[in-house]
Formats: sequence, C-alpha cells, structure tokens
Amino acid sequence: MNALKLLLNRRSASRLTIPAPEGHELKNILAAGMRAPDHGALRPWHFIVMYGEGINKFSQLLEKAAIEGGLGKEVEEKAKNAPYRAPMIITVIAKVVEHTKVPAWEQVVSAGCAVHAMQMAAVVQGFNGIWRSGSWTEDPIVRAGLGCEENDKIVGFLYLGTPELKTPAKVATPDLTNVVSYF
Ligand SMILES: Cc1cc2nc3c(=O)[nH]c(=O)nc-3n(C[C@H](O)[C@H](O)[C@H](O)COP(=O)(O)O)c2cc1C
Repeated sequence: MNALKLLLNRRSASRLTIPAPEGHELKNILAAGMRAPDHGALRPWHFIVMYGEGINKFSQLLEKAAIEGGLGKEVEEKAKNAPYRAPMIITVIAKVVEHTKVPAWEQVVSAGCAVHAMQMAAVVQGFNGIWRSGSWTEDPIVRAGLGCEENDKIVGFLYLGTPELKTPAKVATPDLTNVVSYF
C-alpha cells in the first residue's frame, strides 16, 4: 500500500475479529514499533503482547481492579468483557527514565509514536485496530499486574485483529483552516 494513501485515509477499527497477526506479521508490527522516533536511542518503551490466554489474563486483571476498586457490578462486567473486543492487544508502556537531554514527555511521545507505527504496520498487512486508553492506564492494580514501575506510563492498549467491516467510512478531506498557519 502506498504510504501517503495510508496516512491520508487510515481509519481505526473497533470491531475486530480473528485472525490476529502472528508469526512474521506480528514481528513486522513489533519491529515497526521499534522504529519510532527516539531521542537519545533510549528505546523508552515496553510492548506486552496479549493473545489467547493473555487476553483471558488481562480480562481477569481488569475485573480484579474493578472489584478491589469497589467500582460496582456494572463496571466489573464491562472490565471483564473489554479485552474480548479484539483477538490481540499490545499494551504499550513508556519506560520513562531520568535523562539530562530527553525529558519525560519526549519519552512518552516516543512510545505513542510506537503505538501508531504498530497500528499502521498492522493495516498494511491486512489487519487493523484501535488505540485505547481510559482510566485503567492509571489504576494501581492494573499497573502492578502489568509489571509497571513507578515512572512507567501506560500510553495505550492497541487492540488488533481483522476488521469486521471491510469497507470503513471514507475519510473527509481535512479542513486545515484553523489548524495550520505559516510563519
Ligand atoms: C492516546 C489515545 C487514547 C485513546 N483512547 C481511546 C479510548 O480509550 N477509546 C476509544 O474509543 N478511542 C480512543 N482513542 C481514539 C481512537 O484510537 C481513534 O483514533 C478514534 O476512535 C478516531 O478514529 P480514527 O483513528 O479512525 O480517526 C484514543 C486515541 C489516542 C491517541
């Protein structure tokens, strides 16, 4: 797929089914994440691939967080079901370190670029997904369950799979009027 066409027309897909990327397809996705722009070559990220039993474990973790957080039956149910919206989830954690030249925000942005790169690498291989976040990214039980250290920032859960909708809605031509100026 032409790169410009991809960037101008890309859409996220929230309705995802099997198959999930595997083998060399998954490797390409992870390698694309590793090519995110990275000031100081810090590689300030960690990718957790959840697939199969990993999705079940993530569901149990979110449910536990909802129960122990006293969030109520409705949230518990929602939390438990959330991971099953895709056959694969890649959780991206910014591993933020103290650095004289690379502030924390740059490292978080870098990890965010990795999420987008992985989503685009999925698209060109016939898959798609959606970058999700939400309050679970800050939840202490979820963070502990995913092995987060104090300075880590969960920048997103990249839900991946095969889009159920084969022809997503067209992207409107962007209105640049109030977004772009020339200096
Ligand atoms: C950091 C970040 C967090 C996001 N979190 C969510 C989320 O939790 N739930 C959601 O539906 N969309 C979330 N989105 C937006 C979707 O990934 C997606 O961009 C949006 O649905 C618009 O669709 P499009 O990508 O096709 O334009 C998030 C995007 C970013 C950049």
